[in-house]
Amino acid sequence: MKHFLDIHKTDAGDLRTVIDQAIAMKVSRNGRPKGAPDDTQPLAGRMVALIFEKPSTRTRVSFDVGVRQMGGQTMVLSGSDMQLGHGETIADTARVMSRYVDLIMIRTFDEAVLEEMAEYASVPVINGLTDRTHPCQIMADVMTYEEHRGPIKGKKVVWCGDGNNVCASFLHAAAQFGFDFTFTGPVQLDPEMEFVGLARNAGVSVAIERDPFKAVEGADLVVADTWVSMHDAQSAKERRHNMLRSYQVNVDLMRHAKPDALFMHCLPAHRGEEVTSEVMDGPQSVIFDEAENRLHAQKAIMRYCLGV
Ligand code: CP
Ligand code: NVA
Repeated sequence: MKHFLDIHKTDAGDLRTVIDQAIAMKVSRNGRPKGAPDDTQPLAGRMVALIFEKPSTRTRVSFDVGVRQMGGQTMVLSGSDMQLGHGETIADTARVMSRYVDLIMIRTFDEAVLEEMAEYASVPVINGLTDRTHPCQIMADVMTYEEHRGPIKGKKVVWCGDGNNVCASFLHAAAQFGFDFTFTGPVQLDPEMEFVGLARNAGVSVAIERDPFKAVEGADLVVADTWVSMHDAQSAKERRHNMLRSYQVNVDLMRHAKPDALFMHCLPAHRGEEVTSEVMDGPQSVIFDEAENRLHAQKAIMRYCLGV
C-alpha cells in the first residue's frame, strides 16, 4: 500500500512509471466512448471514496470516470455533509472510512488534514489538492508536456503570478523530473522557500525574476494559475489583482518565450485576468489536453497506490 501525498515524497522511478503507464493507458483507449471499460479491469471489486472539502470540476469528474473505466466503484462525498465537517476527528474518520473503502482521495484545506488522514487510514490516500500542494495536477502536466515535446528533463518552465499550491507542486516536480524552474511574480507572493531549496538541493536551477519578460526568455513552458485561489480570502481579491496585473500571460509575453513554448493552466481560468483568451485558445495552449490527462495520470496513480 502506498499513499500519493506529494511529488517530492514519491520515488522518482515510481513517478516515471506512473507517467509512462498513464500514456500507455491513454493510447489503449484511443477513440473509445468515455464510459467504455478498459481492457484490463485493475480496480474490479474496489470501492473508492472521493472527499471534497472544496469545489471541483476536473478532479471530481476525472477521478470518478477513471475508477469506473478501471472497473471500480466510487462514492463522492462532500466534507460538509460528513461528520468530518461537524467535529469528528480526521483520525477517526480515516479509521472508519478504511473499513468501507479501498482507496481515499481527499481535497482539503490544511495539509495537516491530509497527513493525518494518511497516518490513520489503513488504505491508500491520494492528495486531490490542499492549500499547499496539487500533485495530481502536475503529474498530468508533466505527461502533457512530454506528449507534445518529449522529455521534460532539462527544459525551462516559467511560472507567472502567485507562488501558490500548484506552483509548489511544480517545484517538487522540477526536483524529481530534473527541469529548471523560474518563478516570476511579486515578492509578496513568492513560492515557499522550503520548496525552492528542495528543488535547488536536487541540482536543478530555480530562479526568481521580477521582470516577466526577462523570466520567459528561453522558456519551453509558460504556466499561469488563478490570482485568487480557493483558500485565499475574497477580501484580498483587489489587492492581489493589483499586485499581479503585470504578470498576465498574453501574446506579447508569449512572444518572448521560445517559439515552440507551450502554455499551461490547471483551470479553472479567469479569462482576461491571469491569461488572455488569445493565449488560452491559441496554438501554444495545451490546457484541455492537461485537463484530459488528469484522467489518465490519476488512473495510473491509483494503480500505483493499490499495486494493481
Ligand atoms: N485543476 C483542478 O484541480 O480543477 P478542479 O478544481 O475543477 O478540480
Ligand atoms: N490554485 C488554485 C488551483 C485550483 C485547481 C486553487 O487552489 O484554488
